[in-house]
Amino acid sequence: MSRSQAIGVAPRSFVPLCVPEIRGNEWTYVRECLDTGWVSSVGRFVERFEKSVAQAVGARHGIATVNGTAALHVALMLAGVEPEDEVLVSTLTFIAPVNAIRYVGAWPVFMDSRESDWQMDPAHVAAFLERECETKDGKLVNRKSGRRVRAILPVHILGHVVDMDPIRELARQFRIPVIEDSTEALGARYRGRAAGKIGQIGCFSFNGNKLITTGGGGMIVTDNDEWAQRARYLTTQAKDDPVEYIHGAIGYNYRLTNVQAALGVAQMEQLSEFVERKRRIAAAYDEGLADVPGLAPLREPAGAFSTYWMYTVRVDAPQFGLDSRALLQSLEDAGIQTRPLWQPIHQSIPHRGERAVDCPVADALHRDALSLPCSVGLSREDQAAVIETIIRIGEEARA
Ligand SMILES: Cc1ncc(COP(=O)(O)O)c(C=O)c1O
Repeated sequence: MSRSQAIGVAPRSFVPLCVPEIRGNEWTYVRECLDTGWVSSVGRFVERFEKSVAQAVGARHGIATVNGTAALHVALMLAGVEPEDEVLVSTLTFIAPVNAIRYVGAWPVFMDSRESDWQMDPAHVAAFLERECETKDGKLVNRKSGRRVRAILPVHILGHVVDMDPIRELARQFRIPVIEDSTEALGARYRGRAAGKIGQIGCFSFNGNKLITTGGGGMIVTDNDEWAQRARYLTTQAKDDPVEYIHGAIGYNYRLTNVQAALGVAQMEQLSEFVERKRRIAAAYDEGLADVPGLAPLREPAGAFSTYWMYTVRVDAPQFGLDSRALLQSLEDAGIQTRPLWQPIHQSIPHRGERAVDCPVADALHRDALSLPCSVGLSREDQAAVIETIIRIGEEARA
């Protein structure tokens, strides 16, 4: 007998965690690609998609890529990160930005989350740069490892933003660039500035569960003309002469296709509507779950505008009556899909290294947090059922 049957929750039809919303001009634009034969990496939709994302964040340039991981890989190269360098990165993230750091041969230095907003803790960044690094021959060096510290890569998680002012100030002081992983934060703002446009370079993802999707896709945004030009070059196999097949560097086949960009253009037309819908879903959860003991949602930080891309609560097991994984199981048995946050990357097999890294806040969030169904198209009835089921599971568990 499953846990939810044991506590008397009726199974219901499936409510997925977060699925795409395709209801605008997607068919029309994709059909245009198919009808005209412009299906590959050249075509008017790629350019339009780049412009619409750049415009949405207020950046001078947008360079489309096959996915967000590729965008991060190229962004690290543009920022001058080289083999054996170190990059400060959030440990509580999907693994992609840390993998990208390893793709360029550099090493991650993991930063813990801040208790109040779950994002990269600026106090940890300050402590590392001020206490553990020194400047030698004009280069910022980690005293212990002897490696050069080359960039900061904060990850805006779950549709909320990192407290960027102190991080930008530290980056300015220590003369290193900030690469924003804004893959989960398209449409979010920090003190009036768009996520992705606060550091020197920002990266987005348009995979299936993101706020807008191209199936798979990514984007680099920057104001730096030289970097933008280099990004275009590197993402298209570094062709110096396309007719003669002359290549001036090791390039990558990272360009987005016109078909995917067509989807992206149609999705971008609905961005503000999608953000609005996500915020309404968040408000309904906030209200519906407000009186449940032991559930605390991640809230919009002061001065920020969050998209609530992935509505997530922290479960206090003694107070709620069940821990996050037992709640996940009970909800799954009731046909409701939820998911925990990522294993913090300093704990992951490929990145944990030999020295233990202490990130207790991220570890606790991994243990306690659970993301709830929050598709743009989530119906009021389904959301009400999710809320009611959570309330019931908690009551039964505490009885
Ligand atoms: C924080 C974060 N960074 C990077 C990525 C990578 O994006 P993609 O899946 O498009 O490669 C994702 C999403 O998957 C993500 O959530």
